[in-house]
Amino acid sequence: MDKRIVSSEESAEDIFEKSIRPEVLDEYVGQTEIKENLRVFIKAAKMRNEPLDHVLLYGPPGLGKTTLAHIIANELGSTLRTASGPSIEKSGDLAAILSNLEPGDVLFIDEIHRMPSYIEEILYPAMEDFEIDLVIGGGEGKSKSIKINLPPFTLVGATTRSGDLSSPLRDRFGIVAKLEYYSFEELRDIVKRSGKVFDINVNDDAAMEIAKRSRKTPRVANRLFRRVRDFALVEGTGEIDLDITKRALKRLKVDESGLDNIDREYLTSLIEKFNGGPVGVETIATSIGEEVTTVEDVVEPYLLQEGFIKRTRSGRVATEKAYKSLGYSYNIGFFKED
Ligand SMILES: Nc1ncnc2c1ncn2[C@@H]1O[C@H](COP(=O)(O)OP(=O)(O)O)[C@@H](O)[C@H]1O
Ligand SMILES: [Mg+2]
Repeated sequence: MDKRIVSSEESAEDIFEKSIRPEVLDEYVGQTEIKENLRVFIKAAKMRNEPLDHVLLYGPPGLGKTTLAHIIANELGSTLRTASGPSIEKSGDLAAILSNLEPGDVLFIDEIHRMPSYIEEILYPAMEDFEIDLVIGGGEGKSKSIKINLPPFTLVGATTRSGDLSSPLRDRFGIVAKLEYYSFEELRDIVKRSGKVFDINVNDDAAMEIAKRSRKTPRVANRLFRRVRDFALVEGTGEIDLDITKRALKRLKVDESGLDNIDREYLTSLIEKFNGGPVGVETIATSIGEEVTTVEDVVEPYLLQEGFIKRTRSGRVATEKAYKSLGYSYNIGFFKED
């Protein structure tokens, strides 16, 4: 299974992530525009003594959506309540969560796109007018609808696919933020920060080396940091320098392209089995034994952004960069560009 998808049990990685999560905007590296805008909106909401407008955070896994939700609550001085789309199975589940909110609370719904649409509809009046309509009874045709007033609250939704949200839901978010992949410098700073949190010295070169191989994703950078830290402790000087980092990364089989195993399987399959494409995403997903949603939400956004693949009307196509990165020779004659 893809470890980047959150499981319900708390793993060592979950615990590690919690302990390393920045808690205030100033500690949150990168995403400058989002950060600066949020700073203004949060300040204005506090000055007016009103709840912050509802916030939608979207982007690939590991870029800092959950972290930002926590920070928003923190900066507002509010309590964060957490729910996740797939765990809200009945309309009553959501009604219960909403009616238990306290004034000013921040309700974080992770993977909000995975909520069924009939449940989604409960959110519309909740977001707009802070009320919900509950249908009570139903026996002998006597069901009736009652209105429940909710305290003012802020909904923070996170999703890897904003396209899957219905437009009425999307339109009710006053603040919509798309998280971007991180630069190497930003990831270097994140790794250095992690070093500080764990009280281990990470020099600049070593942090940069980890940054470059992290798929432009903080979660991956922190994961590598954690493994390199083990090597530094057991086989190194206790400090993280370039030498131990390179040795560790080699032992971990993390190559210099910054691609991970699934990325490589995807590209290898596209090149070897399908002659570089074009081929449909379902076909590639099946050939590497992954879910289509994992391929679309986790694997492809990075490969597209970095120019390893292109999306065409007839399917996915491997680029020259993909061939070269995986050590294939590239023959433009394989497919014609129109
Ligand atoms: N901007 C950032 N600055 C510092 N650390 C970050 C940042 N974004 C993410 N991280 C780290 O990466 C990890 C994954 O972030 P998370 O918020 O769980 O991602 P998402 O919810 O988008 O999948 C967190 O543990 C956090 O420590
Ligand atoms: Mg998350």
